[in-house]
Amino acid sequence: MLVRLDFSTTLSLLLLLLLVGSSRAQVGVNWGTQVSHPLHAPSVVKMLQKNSFTRVKMFDTDASVLHALAGSNIEVMVGIPNTMLETLSSSMHAARNWVESNVTWYLKYPKRRVDIRYVAVGEEPLHDVRLDAVVGAVKNIRAALDKQTRTRDIKTTIPFSAGIVTSNSFTPSTGNFIRPDEMKTILELLSDSKSPFTVNIHPFISSVKDPSFPLDFAFFDGDFPFQQDQGNNYTNAFDAIFDTVVSALKQAGFPDMPIIVGGTGWPTDCNLQANPQNAERFNQGLVKRIESSRGTPLRPGQLHAYIFSLVDEDRKKPGYERHWGIFQYDGTRKYGLTLLGARELENVPDVEYMPARWCVSNDATDGLEQRINATCQQVDCSPLFEGGSCNFLTVSERASYAFNSNYQLNDQATSSCDPEFGRVVRDDPSHGNCRFMRQIVVNSAERERLCRNVLAFVWLTLSMLFI
Ligand SMILES: *[C@@H]1O[C@H](CO)[C@@H](O)[C@H](O)[C@H]1NC(C)=O
Ligand SMILES: *[C@@H]1O[C@H](CO)[C@@H](O)[C@H](O)[C@H]1NC(C)=O
Ligand SMILES: *[C@@H]1O[C@H](CO)[C@@H](O)[C@H](O)[C@H]1NC(C)=O
Repeated sequence: MLVRLDFSTTLSLLLLLLLVGSSRAQVGVNWGTQVSHPLHAPSVVKMLQKNSFTRVKMFDTDASVLHALAGSNIEVMVGIPNTMLETLSSSMHAARNWVESNVTWYLKYPKRRVDIRYVAVGEEPLHDVRLDAVVGAVKNIRAALDKQTRTRDIKTTIPFSAGIVTSNSFTPSTGNFIRPDEMKTILELLSDSKSPFTVNIHPFISSVKDPSFPLDFAFFDGDFPFQQDQGNNYTNAFDAIFDTVVSALKQAGFPDMPIIVGGTGWPTDCNLQANPQNAERFNQGLVKRIESSRGTPLRPGQLHAYIFSLVDEDRKKPGYERHWGIFQYDGTRKYGLTLLGARELENVPDVEYMPARWCVSNDATDGLEQRINATCQQVDCSPLFEGGSCNFLTVSERASYAFNSNYQLNDQATSSCDPEFGRVVRDDPSHGNCRFMRQIVVNSAERERLCRNVLAFVWLTLSMLFI
């Protein structure tokens, strides 16, 4: 019986492999960590697996995230922050250390291996790093990866903004790099190691920056009258931008370089077009596009793309930048995205909340506005402004929103709900879509581990000083 069971399991696995093959459609997601209260990483990984996200892109090498991804079979792109590129470019030693502690370390134990496939060198680095430093960093990281058999197959890539390409009157077939000479150096480098070109595509930002941008063109299912270009019909910005990149690569002499969409998505707050309906429409269109395996007119086939992003990040720039998550800060989904295999998005499990307490205005009016302003210097009040989910609140409710955000940011510390203006209540004061947050408990095991890591690091540094 046991043997038969095993045999049939093997058979179905084999069948599955045959069916799915190597060209299986895969949905990726960006896992950013600029948050004051991180979700318990192992719970996030459980959620990723349940929802069949098979690819994760990081902007750093956060140890708790990488430890949680160990043994999960999720493909990982780790990231090097822009601020490190100068150092990595000028020092081979620094590059080797970076690879050793941020990549090789996670490949050591076969059962707890992190499936690192790519190293992203910077994130849209040309905005604030010199070209030579970007090139130098890629060269040194590449050399460090090539030194070991274990890391040789890991690709290096650079996530660029789509702003580095341009075209004549928006026809994708005329796409070219804005600085073709600079790009040539980088493309040769990528091509030498058979690495992919990575680009971020954000129709939302195009629509924010250009008031004449037709909103419907931002969506995959838009009704926008198509734009014809050499027999291809473009009905959405994603295809048009992607194919502009395809043409630019062709023009530069790299027509076959694989393209990864490093980040694409839609925020849900703090802008008139940023809301859950539009975000669902965009991301659902993206998932369907990935599932269809049809690619774009100039690059038919599988699309390798990462949704931007996983959760809202409260340490980013105030405004819509903080609200790109498909999940809220607490791991609850914002809308019912249907994923590959027609399943609905599931929440992050086992999230623990702080007690049901909120800080609201006690209806004192003297100096209230000043106090709101002062509080909003400390916490993000952008949902209160035009296009925000809490824009409709009265002055007193706005005060409550600000005071509560501050109270939750400070883990409900009594001192963070000033009795002169506020009081603590036990009923959720949220108004419809305007949600008054209740903080999550940062997993204590996680905290301990982080502390241990810091201690170990201090110890290591000290011991190096004294050797
Ligand atoms: C590993 O990467 C992180 C950034 O993600 C960096 O802070 C750290 O210094 C790196 N380790 C080494 C040895 O370079
Ligand atoms: C684009 O649209 C035109 C006009 O409807 C149609 O004739 C043509 O076949 C379309 N091209 C493609 C590639 O779908
Ligand atoms: C508070 O801020 C708003 C908007 O920035 C401003 O219009 C108002 O004058 C400020 N009020 C006080 C009392 O500082």
